[in-house]
Amino acid sequence: MERVLGFIRDNRERNLAELMELLRIQSISADSTKNGETRRAGEFVEKVMKRVGIENVRLIETGGHPVVYGDWLHAPGKPTILIYGHYDVQPVDPLAEWSTPPFEPTVRDGKLYGRGTSDDKAQVMTHLYALEALMRIDGKLPCNVKFFIEGEEESGSAHTAPFVVENRDMLACDAVAISDTAWYSRDVPTIVYALRGLSYMEFKVKGPIRDLHSGSYGGMIMNPLNAVARIISKLQDEDGKVLVPGFYDDVVPLTDEERQEFAAVGDPDPEIMSDIGISSMWGEKGYTSMERNWGRPSLDVNGIFGGFQGEGGKTVIPSYGGFKMSTRLVPNQRPEKVFRLVEKYIQSICPPGVTVEAKYHHGGEPVMVPTDNFFIEAARAAFEEVFGKRPALVREGASIPITATFVQELKAAPVLIGYGLPDDHIHSPNEKMELEGFYKGIETNALMYLRFGGSPQTAHDR
Ligand code: BES
Ligand code: ZN
Repeated sequence: MERVLGFIRDNRERNLAELMELLRIQSISADSTKNGETRRAGEFVEKVMKRVGIENVRLIETGGHPVVYGDWLHAPGKPTILIYGHYDVQPVDPLAEWSTPPFEPTVRDGKLYGRGTSDDKAQVMTHLYALEALMRIDGKLPCNVKFFIEGEEESGSAHTAPFVVENRDMLACDAVAISDTAWYSRDVPTIVYALRGLSYMEFKVKGPIRDLHSGSYGGMIMNPLNAVARIISKLQDEDGKVLVPGFYDDVVPLTDEERQEFAAVGDPDPEIMSDIGISSMWGEKGYTSMERNWGRPSLDVNGIFGGFQGEGGKTVIPSYGGFKMSTRLVPNQRPEKVFRLVEKYIQSICPPGVTVEAKYHHGGEPVMVPTDNFFIEAARAAFEEVFGKRPALVREGASIPITATFVQELKAAPVLIGYGLPDDHIHSPNEKMELEGFYKGIETNALMYLRFGGSPQTAHDR
């Protein structure tokens, strides 16, 4: 074990340099003009995977961005771990807010800045480097592994999820290791055991067939952007309750035990408010922040489009306007059903003189992971060995859409062992990954795989 950790420490600089190369690739999966770059990031991961000694490494087409697959299956009687992560990243706007450009990774103060650092490129690489160390020192791995690194997580895994369904046998495994989450706070190493689901949608409000002079026509017709504002204002009431009929029908209410468990993490509000620079929290009345984030659905407009955005003023009634919106879901809400409910409601409140066109983008189901199993215990022990603290088991308000598919299709136990921090600015300007999390994440993973190899539990006796 000491030799494995020694190898990892000796290779810190090489690993960092290689990660920075990957971070230079502009793999924004939602942006089709970047399809070539996105693929190149997959190819980069493929190249490293081959060097590590993983076998059958290849890019596999899914109809969307390809997945990088590879396996090493020479540990008979040992469990098989599927390692999941994503090589794609979120869009980078607003560009002007970045201190250094998003695709020019830069180290400042022990932190590596760049789009995709924490989410998820550094975290993906922690697994490759951990396995590389085990392979070099022991000449073999302690357990069987299969890599499944996808390229469209940040745009909803729309092709990856059906791929998993169709390739159940190829992906068969006992557990899925996922490093794509953050700690609850800087001092609390965290294993996540629940993720919210998501339903992403877009509404286009159409009015006159062309843009109009806002004086010549103002007061006579419905302005599509005013209509957008009216519609959005009717989605939630003053108390943060979603007004879409049926929205809460399938929501499993929080139990008293859950509420007690959430309260036990303490009051996060002061730290959150100071970190993001706001003066008060807000949300569904009757619930604490943690209850709202972990155990209740939410609704957020992600962008509003239409009309004049340029410098100065332009007196115009735009021909159309619209908005993109995400809802976060909890058990037992279903993404497409939620979309249908929202669409029906929006049609019913659409102001006169305009029409609404609805589009479903993508979705993912919420997931709750059982925690009383060997794999979670091994991950916790590895965390404790490296960071000196037993990790907390907490929920997460964000989504990793494919996780529910793994549970349903592969019947595998997800282990959400992440190394990000809450202030990593993911999906935002100046995203960073702290070098300590990256380096120690590699060590933690190596120890975790060694413990997985001590497993009495295999596919046969499960
Ligand atoms: N890594 C995140 C999920 C995450 C964020 C976990 C923060 C823990 C803490 C993941 O890559 C992500 O952002 N997913 C998207 C999915 C969506 C685009 C379908 C999300 O949650 O918005
Ligand atoms: Zn991610």
